Amino acid sequence: MAYSKHIYDLATKKLSDRRASALSVADYRKNETYREIPRLSEIERELSSIGVSTAKAVLSGKDAATLLTSLKEKSVALQKEFNGLLLSHGYSVDYLEPQFSCDKCSDTGFIEFDNKTITCECYKKLLSDCACEELNTISPLSLSTFDSFKLALYSDKPDERGNIPYVRMQKIYDFCLKYATEFTPESKGILMKGDTGLGKTHLSLAIANEVIKKGYSVVYVSAPDILSKLEKEHFTYSYSQEQEIMQSLINCDLLILDDLGTEFATNFTKSAVYNIFNTRVNMGKPIIINTNYTSKELEENYTQRFVSRVMASCSVLSFIGTDIRSIL
Ligand SMILES: Nc1ncnc2c1ncn2[C@@H]1O[C@H](COP(=O)(O)OP(=O)(O)O)[C@@H](O)[C@H]1O
Ligand SMILES: [Mg+2]
Ligand SMILES: [Zn+2]
Repeated sequence: MAYSKHIYDLATKKLSDRRASALSVADYRKNETYREIPRLSEIERELSSIGVSTAKAVLSGKDAATLLTSLKEKSVALQKEFNGLLLSHGYSVDYLEPQFSCDKCSDTGFIEFDNKTITCECYKKLLSDCACEELNTISPLSLSTFDSFKLALYSDKPDERGNIPYVRMQKIYDFCLKYATEFTPESKGILMKGDTGLGKTHLSLAIANEVIKKGYSVVYVSAPDILSKLEKEHFTYSYSQEQEIMQSLINCDLLILDDLGTEFATNFTKSAVYNIFNTRVNMGKPIIINTNYTSKELEENYTQRFVSRVMASCSVLSFIGTDIRSIL
């Protein structure tokens, strides 16, 4: 799983905020409780001096065993007194412990397991939530779902080529639903083509929704936006920014490149499209490309080689019908 640096930064910030807030609540509680029950801070001091004596006893070596036993007994008694005081004042014994959102990693995001550091489930969840939120800022992801996709909006009368939009779109819908349900980072790509307003963005976001829910990383970008950004970074700003964007387009489990063909095409944007596409295909990673272009227009605007590689590595879905926005 690989998210963009931006998503990692967001998730890491949220996690460290959680931890900081748990620690500051604990700190506040300690101050208040110690003020109310002064004996608690004495016990704490005594316990820490026992800690120091224990270390000294271990280092001195002389009759350490007896000394250690008596120190241990003292410390157990003090701990008991401490807990007793908390209980008698109406607090639970863990009242002063930081209450982390995640018990497993104490909101650090990582767990030591088998001498290895592994990523905690809570951090994985946070990353996927952040990726989802990020998508939501671009397009209302919650609105573009399989549930809100209505087949009834497509005509059941044959078009001028004899194709029935309702039937075609039912197949496309079923295909996309199955694709999303069975998605793995080794899935094939999809090329969604067809006129504006036929539901390409809607269905690709519906796929994104499901794939994110399965815990995979999804990056959704509109071709004109991302290509102009890349071009700007390339020619005016830093190389590292451009590399960072490229990395997030290449590293994610699923890339959705929407509205290919509506960018202001230059040699730079074309080679960026080839680069993104070829790198992903070579790595066996899926990409969903949406375009209003016909196959012929794609060939005219990009290279024939690019188009035939797209056709070979992607399932092609040809959307038909009347602009949904004229019906809604
Ligand atoms: N079958 C559908 N059911 C419900 N809403 C739809 C459907 N198809 C498209 N829409 C809505 O119509 C608008 C245009 O669809 P969109 O997916 O952007 O089309 P495209 O990407 O093909 O241009 C969006 O608001 C979308 O949510
Ligand atoms: Mg669209
Ligand atoms: Zn955790």
